[in-house]
Amino acid sequence: MSDGYNVAVVGATGAVGTKLIEMLEQTNLPLKKVKLLASKRSAGRKLLFKGEGLFVEELTAESFDDVDIAFFSAGGSTSQQFASEAVKRGTVVIDNTSQFRMDKDTPLVVPEVNKEALKKHQGIVANPNCSTIQMMVALEPIKKLVGIDRVIVSTYQAVSGAGARAVEEVKQQAKETLDGELPENLTTGILPVASDKKHYPQAFNALAQIDEFAEEGYTKEEWKMVNETKKIMADNQIKISATCVRVPVITSHSESIYIETKEETSVAQLRETLEKADGVVVEDDPSQQIYPQALNSVGKKDTFVGRIRRDLDIDNGYHLWVVSDNLLKGAAWNSVQIAETLHEMDLVHV
Ligand code: A2P
Repeated sequence: MSDGYNVAVVGATGAVGTKLIEMLEQTNLPLKKVKLLASKRSAGRKLLFKGEGLFVEELTAESFDDVDIAFFSAGGSTSQQFASEAVKRGTVVIDNTSQFRMDKDTPLVVPEVNKEALKKHQGIVANPNCSTIQMMVALEPIKKLVGIDRVIVSTYQAVSGAGARAVEEVKQQAKETLDGELPENLTTGILPVASDKKHYPQAFNALAQIDEFAEEGYTKEEWKMVNETKKIMADNQIKISATCVRVPVITSHSESIYIETKEETSVAQLRETLEKADGVVVEDDPSQQIYPQALNSVGKKDTFVGRIRRDLDIDNGYHLWVVSDNLLKGAAWNSVQIAETLHEMDLVHV
């Protein structure tokens, strides 16, 4: 087991990259050196790590020559181009993009749920989609208790999930709206998806499109939640469908989750189980108006669960409200937690 790692953050200037730096400041992973990588545009910029200014370097294949663990969060095409270069050089890659998530040789890991999958890694470990991660943290303890037959999830996702430029776009739209501009005249160009043909205002709006549309009228984000859940839970039989919606919240995703359990349970038993679960905080007291809120979860590593209630018509049907910081547990914290777990399991080698 190493007594210290050289780590790299690829996409260090981005929304998730910035949080990765913060999580690395807090990690108990032994670190020797931290290297910050981004595009040529950012080379030479200085970012703080534990109070020390570190220069951002341009990403090249050679960047990985002396790196043990690299966190990738610079888009799928960057991962596609550089992850194998890193692995070739002996670097273990923890990838935040969707590039390798469904590859059969790539573990897709939420440490609270399936850390054993890390044993099979061949150099790349994938960090799941942000919306999937928080749902897994909340559902795995229930699955262990009584099994889950079916999941129907609707998300209320934050803008920071689309990157730092998307956040700037929404702030600009909000300002323009408050200054009296009509919706059709607002500055658009990134949301709902930079790569798609049309762009709509997100400020003061809810958009039922995250990522591009794919098969059966579902978006890629919705398919990610479906396919990744089956892979992480190692359960191809679970029935699951998702509706993913972007709302004008800057950080933290909220999810309304309906489940049908395999065996009988009760609200009290579900609450007790979730209270004991790793990474979960139950906030659930309707009499005091206590339930998870996006704003309250920002900057926290936990997944917050509330509004636990039974369905009024379906036996074994339950509803939950699940909230977590999409940039932390949904991305940077889960990635650093994967690195800590790889270290604990002595698996930081290609
Ligand atoms: P840069 O700031 O130099 O463009 P976000 O998800 O917030 O949009 O951030 C994306 C991150 O990925 C940024 O750090 C960005 O760097 C980085 N990035 C984008 N394209 C590349 C590339 N081709 N090579 C390296 N880094 C990239």
